[in-house]
Amino acid sequence: MAGVSSSQFSFVCCLLFLFLFMIISETRAQPSYFLNHFCDNDKGNFTANSTYHANLNTLLSNLTSNVEIDYGFYNSSYGQNSEKVNAIGLCRGDVKPGECRHCLNMSTALLTRLCPNQKEAISYHDKCMLRYSNRTIFGVVETWPSFYMWNANNATDVEQFNQVLGNLMRNLTSIAASGDSRRKYAAANAYASNFQTIYGAVQCTPDLSDQDCNDCLVGAISEISSCCGGKRGGRVARPSCNIRYENYRFYGEPVTADAPAPSL
Ligand SMILES: *[C@@H]1O[C@H](CO)[C@@H](O)[C@H](O)[C@H]1NC(C)=O
Ligand SMILES: *[C@@H]1O[C@H](CO)[C@@H](O)[C@H](O)[C@H]1NC(C)=O
Ligand SMILES: *[C@@H]1O[C@H](CO)[C@@H](O)[C@H](O)[C@H]1NC(C)=O
Repeated sequence: MAGVSSSQFSFVCCLLFLFLFMIISETRAQPSYFLNHFCDNDKGNFTANSTYHANLNTLLSNLTSNVEIDYGFYNSSYGQNSEKVNAIGLCRGDVKPGECRHCLNMSTALLTRLCPNQKEAISYHDKCMLRYSNRTIFGVVETWPSFYMWNANNATDVEQFNQVLGNLMRNLTSIAASGDSRRKYAAANAYASNFQTIYGAVQCTPDLSDQDCNDCLVGAISEISSCCGGKRGGRVARPSCNIRYENYRFYGEPVTADAPAPSL
């Protein structure tokens, strides 16, 4: 006889309840949404309590300690020779210093838990990105591991939408790429037909050269058609650069940009 006894039922309910509770408490603890992470198993592992492990912990616990940094980019190294660890922390260009440090501190705790013995790892949150490796990662363009996200809403008048989106992304790219070694970020909005406003933001880690930043962003933008074509929003996140556009304003205080004139 198929059916669920009441004790089985309450057991399932109990599990569901516990699961919901875990989700809720997890979201509460995270003011910036956790998006994705990658533990690189091909670049080597370290053993627990090794020098590398200790160096990684020292580096990460100290990463955001310089309170003079107010531009959302942290890069430092710790250790000698083969035990040296390098880390980069990058916050979205509009995120305030305190919020940035909070996001990165949360990322260090989470990423070291998710990747307990990989020498190289990366995590992406809504407002910050953290990565570390025993390799030199400063000033080097990295396009992988990357990921996409898309907004479920479809754009209308797609051809015109794509044209406006393309222009917006190109303008933002040239502004971001010409930023300085503290910030390479640009955000602005543009208007497509049918009352569709497109809000866009692009960013590189500011240790990149203008050309490398430009190339990274152009590559990310070229992926829009495969990840998010016809959608009203999308993101492509790479270690060295990221792009995002939405039909709502997702960033604070926009950097005034030479955005395309509203086409009404
Ligand atoms: C990083 O670690 C890997 C694996 O242990 C090793 O093969 C590589 O040579 C190291 N790289 C550097 C720059 O030390
Ligand atoms: C921690 O960071 C500060 C800069 O914020 C630096 O002066 C200090 O040497 C670092 N300490 C370690 C152990 O790396
Ligand atoms: C961090 O990046 C800046 C450029 O943005 C560079 O001037 C500085 O030397 C870098 N620090 C380290 C430890 O590589």
